[in-house]
Amino acid sequence: MVKTTSPLHTPLCDLLGCQFPIMLAGMGGVARHRLASAVANAGGFPVLGMVREPCERMRFEIAALKQQCITPFAVNLIPAATDASLLKAQVSLCIELNVPFIALFWDIDKKLIHQLKFEGCKIIHQVGNLEDAEAALDAGVDVLIAQGQEAGGHVRGKVSSLPLLAELLPISPIPVVAAGGIGNGKSIAAALTLGAQGVSLGTAFLATTEANAHEHHKQRIIKANANDTVYTTQFHRNWHEPAPVRVLANAITRGERIDSSKQDHPIVIGYQDNQSIHLCSTDSPLTDAIGAIDDMALYSGQSCGQIAKVTSVKQRVDTLVTEAKLALK
Ligand SMILES: Cc1cc2nc3c(=O)[nH]c(=O)nc-3n(C[C@H](O)[C@H](O)[C@H](O)COP(=O)(O)O)c2cc1C
Repeated sequence: MVKTTSPLHTPLCDLLGCQFPIMLAGMGGVARHRLASAVANAGGFPVLGMVREPCERMRFEIAALKQQCITPFAVNLIPAATDASLLKAQVSLCIELNVPFIALFWDIDKKLIHQLKFEGCKIIHQVGNLEDAEAALDAGVDVLIAQGQEAGGHVRGKVSSLPLLAELLPISPIPVVAAGGIGNGKSIAAALTLGAQGVSLGTAFLATTEANAHEHHKQRIIKANANDTVYTTQFHRNWHEPAPVRVLANAITRGERIDSSKQDHPIVIGYQDNQSIHLCSTDSPLTDAIGAIDDMALYSGQSCGQIAKVTSVKQRVDTLVTEAKLALK
């Protein structure tokens, strides 16, 4: 019998324990257990977006995944953007619950990486430039995600994904995953052809029925094309430094609604998860959000132009895999 191997199977699949080299991006609020388990059941790698979440929420989401026997999985944290005492509690909880992979983003926290590695966690680190990649490698991470400037959400670097991959691949002894602007199977094939061992998708998974994003956000994404996204620092509340994000254009990015409030007197524009949402906050609207939804941070990568429908995660992954296999043939 001739042994056939799928063109989509890379060593990363063995490391992460998944069928396809397709990772769910750790999207705060959006990537909770419903989305993560759907991605795992469709053959991808599940990541819980837990940035700044209280420990009760984290415990609940991790237990929900474990109850469905979804393992391995990753928990996404952003140390630099999290209050030190909350971060300490989040890390302790991940260790207590034997979380197998931690997906980190933003500054490279060498001490934290060493602590987590010592406790047996594997580390995935998203980076946006060569300097951060070198620091992450030096700290001993297990997987690098190369985030191009096309990406939705917070954007770390100023380089597009193709030139970033070209710089990182030759220096990396560990798997490199491509992120940013990837919304169809041909783009996955392109990333793998360049030498990436997988892809990490945010926007493509946000526009699914299982994502915990507000329906208006999903509808804006499927109607948008790449040119409708804006790279801006206007969404700055809840973040430790003025940082660029990629969002869909709205009243804030067009300058029609100005945040003239003082830092400690933010303007409330809505509510979700029993908390208020402030004008120019980094919180994106979740399923239960009420208020001025279109004025919130409608994160989207340039990949939105490749996404025409809100589908189930299973349909999205099946289509991505079929298209990628065809393109790689
Ligand atoms: C709605 C949304 C929220 C995001 N939140 C996070 C987050 O909490 N942590 C993180 O590491 N990255 C976050 N990102 C960035 C993703 O990790 C990833 O880089 C990006 O989604 C890739 O680009 P794409 O959206 O075109 O697939 C977010 C992206 C989106 C679209």
